[in-house]
Amino acid sequence: MEVLGRRGIPVGCRGGGCGVCKVHITAGEYEARKMSKSCVSDEELAQGIVLACRAFPRGEVSLTVVGKMVKTVCAGAPCGSD
Ligand code: FES
Repeated sequence: MEVLGRRGIPVGCRGGGCGVCKVHITAGEYEARKMSKSCVSDEELAQGIVLACRAFPRGEVSLTVVGKMVKTVCAGAPCGSD
């Protein structure tokens, strides 16, 4: 989304440390790489909640923004529809 210049998933440190890109992947395959436990707990990880900068889709995925910036990203628009 960043490359496409689209507003969507917030971008911060890009290294799995700040947590602004926290999303809930509700469908689709992905690989999650190492990320800060202070941002995503093991329970959240098991539910598909990840940091977008540390998750790599293996095809189409559906997700919702759940991180610190959710109000900014979703203001005035239906959120959670991908
Ligand atoms: S951009 Fe900071 S954790 Fe993803």
